[in-house]
Amino acid sequence: MKFKGEIVVENIISMNDMKKKEILDILELARKIENCSEEKKLKFLHGKIISTLFFEPSTRTKMSFESAAMRLGANVLSLPPVEQSSVKKGESFTDTIKMVEAYSDVIVVRHPFDGAARLAAETSKKPVINAGDGSNQHPSQTLLDLYTILEEKGTLENLKIAFVGDLKYGRTVHSLTKALTHFNPTIYFVAPQILQMSDYLLEDLKKNGIKYEILEDFRNCLDKIDVFYMTRIQKERFPDVEDYEKVKGIYVINRENIVGKCKDDMIILHPLPRVDEIDKNLDNTKYALYFKQAKNGIPVRQAMMMAVLGKDKEFFL
Ligand code: CP
Repeated sequence: MKFKGEIVVENIISMNDMKKKEILDILELARKIENCSEEKKLKFLHGKIISTLFFEPSTRTKMSFESAAMRLGANVLSLPPVEQSSVKKGESFTDTIKMVEAYSDVIVVRHPFDGAARLAAETSKKPVINAGDGSNQHPSQTLLDLYTILEEKGTLENLKIAFVGDLKYGRTVHSLTKALTHFNPTIYFVAPQILQMSDYLLEDLKKNGIKYEILEDFRNCLDKIDVFYMTRIQKERFPDVEDYEKVKGIYVINRENIVGKCKDDMIILHPLPRVDEIDKNLDNTKYALYFKQAKNGIPVRQAMMMAVLGKDKEFFL
């Protein structure tokens, strides 16, 4: 990927594909877009069509991509709910992608199967952005997570971060872990054994010399960490509902177990939606950054769409 008037990012599929400089460039572009007037922004993607194909439920990712596109002057074309589209008649995923390629300039796709976004990118000549594929990757979430951390901490380097909850099926955690390998973190993976981080990702950390610990109780790292990254135990991803029943509700944070027990400037992030793992009584504390984090999805996703369309050039003129 090149940047600043030279971007030729064909697709954004996985944090495995992104170099450190590319990540930082996208974050910088997001910052510049955020500081731009609404009037100026409307010209950036004028005349472009962004399509959103969500084969899985979403509130934040779908709506923020669509809002982000509209605020850049683009039009949005959204695949109807699967039940009302020709997927219901048996049309293949790749045929659907070929159709949408003809109708739009960028394809944003979420799918329950790992690898679906890459398959879409291999099928389409138009740029594809992965909006979450199964338990695999969620790069737009990762970029907005990094944007939030950078905004709050002033750096991405040498931070101590705890990932808590569903680390096995959590694509947000998989993506962010991969991205953090560029920034010398210390990572605490806090989960019950059946939801611990996959071995292939731990091997990757070892290979990159990243320090990490495996824990079952977040209280064993709470006083050390800069970022508490909470996740939902995702019932929908468990092959066996009995396993879900064993671990549901295992981690709940609230004022009582956080305030006064963590660093004064620790921040709590969560990709959302939450169920019961963050008590609402934390929402008005200085630690709670999860709603701001979700809001940061707008400039970050704007930067991603501009990057894949090579539109950063106009921005920097
Ligand atoms: N964080 C996230 O992906 O939220 P949605 O499922 O609502 O898009």
